[in-house]
Amino acid sequence: YRAQHQARDNSMGINLANDDQLRQLATQLDSAGAGTWTAGPLVPGAAAGGDVQTVTNPADRREVVGHWRAADEAIVAQALKNAVDAQPAWDATPVDARASILEKAAELMEARMPQLMAMCTKEAGKSLSDGVAEVREAVDFLRYYALQAREQFVVEALPGPTGESNTLQLSGRGVFVCISPWNFPLAIFTGQVAAALAAGNSVIAKPAEQTNLIGYAAVQILHEAGVPAAVLQYLPGDGATVGAALTRDPRVAGVAFTGSTDTARLINRALATRDAGPLAVLIAETGGQNALIADSSSLPEQVVKDALASAFTSAGQRCSAARILLVQDDIGDKVITMLAGAMAELKVGDPGLLSTDVGPVIDADAKALLDAHAAKMQQIAKPIARATLEPGTEHGTFFAPVAWELQSIDQLTRENFGPALHVVRWKAADLDKVIDAINASGYGLTLGIHSRIDGTIDRIVNRAKVGNIYVNRNQIGAVVGVQPFGGQGLSGTGPKAGGPHYLPRFATEKTVTINT
Ligand code: NAD
Ligand code: ALA
Repeated sequence: YRAQHQARDNSMGINLANDDQLRQLATQLDSAGAGTWTAGPLVPGAAAGGDVQTVTNPADRREVVGHWRAADEAIVAQALKNAVDAQPAWDATPVDARASILEKAAELMEARMPQLMAMCTKEAGKSLSDGVAEVREAVDFLRYYALQAREQFVVEALPGPTGESNTLQLSGRGVFVCISPWNFPLAIFTGQVAAALAAGNSVIAKPAEQTNLIGYAAVQILHEAGVPAAVLQYLPGDGATVGAALTRDPRVAGVAFTGSTDTARLINRALATRDAGPLAVLIAETGGQNALIADSSSLPEQVVKDALASAFTSAGQRCSAARILLVQDDIGDKVITMLAGAMAELKVGDPGLLSTDVGPVIDADAKALLDAHAAKMQQIAKPIARATLEPGTEHGTFFAPVAWELQSIDQLTRENFGPALHVVRWKAADLDKVIDAINASGYGLTLGIHSRIDGTIDRIVNRAKVGNIYVNRNQIGAVVGVQPFGGQGLSGTGPKAGGPHYLPRFATEKTVTINT
């Protein structure tokens, strides 16, 4: 199964531990052109977009990294018309040709890794290692969906009675709208678009408001690789205006959305209340309230190491991030003491420095939400530790990683999207109750398990209603084709990104029966 379905050549990336590669990277990052980057609608036959807006660096808001223009109503209308007109020819393009274009785009992205990494750092506040991972994942998505399309978009012969031929084939649904978040501005953006294109759809891509420059660079690469301009169009703009206008339009056959659960509900509603057009499909990948369960057989050092990585990598701005560390009471004191010690060592500052562990959060709104959560925790939780900020961080939107101890999981009611970890102790007799409490949140994205007891691991795996489970390791960084990624319940509709069942959801099926 794995041999058939995994991305055969996951991207290698850049080795940040290799001095030569690092020196070369430093030069390339310096000459990446930060300050001159631009973005705007890429819609044949439409105007350039609205007023020019400035993009600043989340790590230092004094630094201008680029400029962009938003789409307006007329540009949205033109994009929809172009997408409808262009789709049949793209769908009729042989799957090999579509796949080759995606593979060419993968090559271009890999070759431009330093440029794209610089954008991830300057526009999205990503650390250098996150930047490498981001580009690698985007490249993997392109290659994986190209491979999957070649395997799946064939005319499949089915058994039938003598004198009858039966076949099944997949084709594009029509116009697909891809709406992505800022926290994986290249990887998720590219993954959605690549899948929709591989399946034969025309695509209108709407990036998150915070990361227009990166999405623009990705679309330029896909165009350079050979995707026709009207088959992949780019519409930066507000979710509530541009995003909403797209999802209520009856010409749209499907939406691939990654973002918050609240927005997924809005989109679901918009699609459901259309009184014309196809019954559109919604592929939604949303938030999480992810737990890491550690029992008394686990190694406290490893629990702490993996909890830190799971909770604070990418400044906790991953849907997969651990929010709750559930530790069996026998090892509770030891884990909490070690956690506090490890958090004191975290370096929180400039994401462009290799020595930095945690960079900024995306913007002032994100920081305000986290500050409000911290104020609430101050009332109801026991503080464990708070990391300190490096000098210079006052010019950016930083939130120092923090951990609190809570009495119960129920004290957390919503996803807190940042470097905030909550520790809850549990007793051996209560394991099932603990799992049920996680399930009761309604989210079901990732779950970490730390245990050396097979029976306990099986019990948790079988009872937990989550999409991705990681045992005795961290719970972030799913690899395309290796750990297909996505949740259930409030965390998403599936199918899993980077898995073998993803592409068919972007397609329609046709059965042909011929009386021979
Ligand atoms: P968000 O929901 O605020 O925005 C996501 C996208 O939706 C943006 O492009 C935004 O412009 C657009 N949008 C907003 N309102 C809209 C509307 N009414 N109609 C159409 N589009 C609209 O989410 P965010 O803050 O950008 O991202 C963070 C969230 O994403 C977190 O909840 C995180 O857990 C989730 N996420 C999930 C996954 C996953 O794979 N499950 C991956 C990454 C992020
Ligand atoms: N796919 C991303 C991860 O696994 C969100 O961390």
